[in-house]
Amino acid sequence: MQKLIRSQMKPEIQVFAKLEALTHAAATEFVQKAQQAIQARGRFTVVLSGGSTPKSLYALLATQLWRDQISWNQVHLFWGDERHVPPNDSSSNFRMAQEQLLFQVPIPQENVHRIKAENSDAQAVAAEYERDLKQFFQLGEHEFPRFDLVLLGMGANGHTASLFPGTAAVHEQTRLVVAPWVEELNSDRITLTPPVINNANTIIFFVTGVEKATTLKAVLEGQHQPDRLPAQIVHPAQGNVIWMVDQVAARLLSTAVSLTPD
Ligand code: 6PG
Repeated sequence: MQKLIRSQMKPEIQVFAKLEALTHAAATEFVQKAQQAIQARGRFTVVLSGGSTPKSLYALLATQLWRDQISWNQVHLFWGDERHVPPNDSSSNFRMAQEQLLFQVPIPQENVHRIKAENSDAQAVAAEYERDLKQFFQLGEHEFPRFDLVLLGMGANGHTASLFPGTAAVHEQTRLVVAPWVEELNSDRITLTPPVINNANTIIFFVTGVEKATTLKAVLEGQHQPDRLPAQIVHPAQGNVIWMVDQVAARLLSTAVSLTPD
């Protein structure tokens, strides 16, 4: 029997003993959101996260049992952020999703809206992706896209997407996409901005690993300091946030309990 913790704040925290159970629950949410959006609006717009944690989800969605539950020709894939590298680079978030998911599902090429980070000018990459979003969502001046689902991870330093501690990107309120220089990575990144993320219908955070326990507690139960903990900037206006975390990442949370043991 699953037990959900509803904190005072809106976020819902789901804790899983094992990655398999977390991945299965995440795939269930993905399929449900896809079917609901397609039924309601004829399409499902989803933002994929990068890093390593979502790999198992993408791989599970690519399996026959799961992929056949989604009509991929009505799915539009976007990315929350990208490393400033070409799409065939081993650190490319697009490449990871391509290998784990895109190569195995019947999604039309034109439904894959990647960040074209092969351009050496990171600011131009961000500007192009902003134009792509404005065109796809037919946005007017000062309007933000409303994604059906945004997937996010969290770094041990509290960053999410490529909103890193101490960067101006954390406080961006007008642009849809920016290209912050990230000192600690000695590199540019390209990222969706907080107002875009916070305009989503549903946001799911995946957080696993003991190295993230202290940060997760600070983000969910600590003082509001988004400069130091950018993941705290995620507060959807009308949508909901689900934190899917494993037991070791949740071990310091004062409200969390273990969910499905195995
Ligand atoms: C990226 C991500 C980033 C990621 C976190 C967590 O490009 O790296 O989008 O925000 O979600 O760094 O990464 P892990 O899942 O690898 O811990």
